[in-house]
Amino acid sequence: MTEDLASEIEKLKEARRAVILAHNYQPDEVQDVADHVGDSLGLSIIASTTEAGLIVFCGVYFMAETAKILSPKKTVLMPEVIAGCPMADMITVPKLKKLKEEHPGAKVVCYVNSSAAVKAESDICCTSANAVNVVNSLTDADEILFVPDKYLGMYVATKVKGKKFYFSDGFCPTHMKITLEQIKKLKEEHPAAKVIVHPECRPEVIALADEVLSTGGMLKFAKSSGAREIIVGTEIGLMHRLKKENPDKLFYPASPLAVCPNMKLTTLEKILWSLEDLKTEITVPEDIANRARSAIEKMVNIGRQD
Ligand code: 13P
Ligand code: SF4
Repeated sequence: MTEDLASEIEKLKEARRAVILAHNYQPDEVQDVADHVGDSLGLSIIASTTEAGLIVFCGVYFMAETAKILSPKKTVLMPEVIAGCPMADMITVPKLKKLKEEHPGAKVVCYVNSSAAVKAESDICCTSANAVNVVNSLTDADEILFVPDKYLGMYVATKVKGKKFYFSDGFCPTHMKITLEQIKKLKEEHPAAKVIVHPECRPEVIALADEVLSTGGMLKFAKSSGAREIIVGTEIGLMHRLKKENPDKLFYPASPLAVCPNMKLTTLEKILWSLEDLKTEITVPEDIANRARSAIEKMVNIGRQD
């Protein structure tokens, strides 16, 4: 069944000259039919540079929206358009405007996990792969208003000197499920293992980690480090690529509860229907897209830190 669907998708993708992009947290079989699997920054770069006129985006809404903003002339489809990101919904334009009024001297750095309308109100975006570099690029800013992920923001603040930070109260419910106790227990069971965690994790989890990395950074670390065993503090979808790309190494998920339900809404059937019916097309109002594009392009132009 999975193979039949995968070959139907392949045929239709060729006929439509489409490219399938999938985030590292997508279900295994979705990752396997994608042309590119990556993190938020990597997929944004591919979306802006691909020759294909049709992009099928397997991820959550803000990712497809970002692809559309970067490539306004291309058609961007989402096989499951209701897949959102609860953290992105934790900052709204009215909330951001209020924070900006409270901190008029601060530059707004907005995590890419946010709506286009919020990005349009921000000075620059960042992802977990370049947040420290993004903040350091703001050489004329003494104050930073970081939204919506307070944990990523707090981590960045520990890496940046000479700037005052303000945060909004956002967090990722999936990464919140990774606890210090679980990691300590795994460390006891596997004392030689390195601990790598995503910066969306709780501060006490970050404090215990050997490395704090985006999902793309974790894949790079797994390949290049000498560690044979790695405890992985992020959404469990990343395990698929980690294992596939490093068959000689052992990976232990920090928590089996770290599952992003929205990322799991995409299925092979929905990808096939999406290619058949050219649905659901992502659109962004032009004035919002134009204002958000500047903040996103600045982010894309800043190199990875991991
Ligand atoms: P990455 O950009 O590291 O892939 O993370 C995206 C995300 O949504 C993490 O929860
Ligand atoms: Fe959003 Fe968290 Fe899911 Fe990433 S893992 S898409 S931050 S809810």
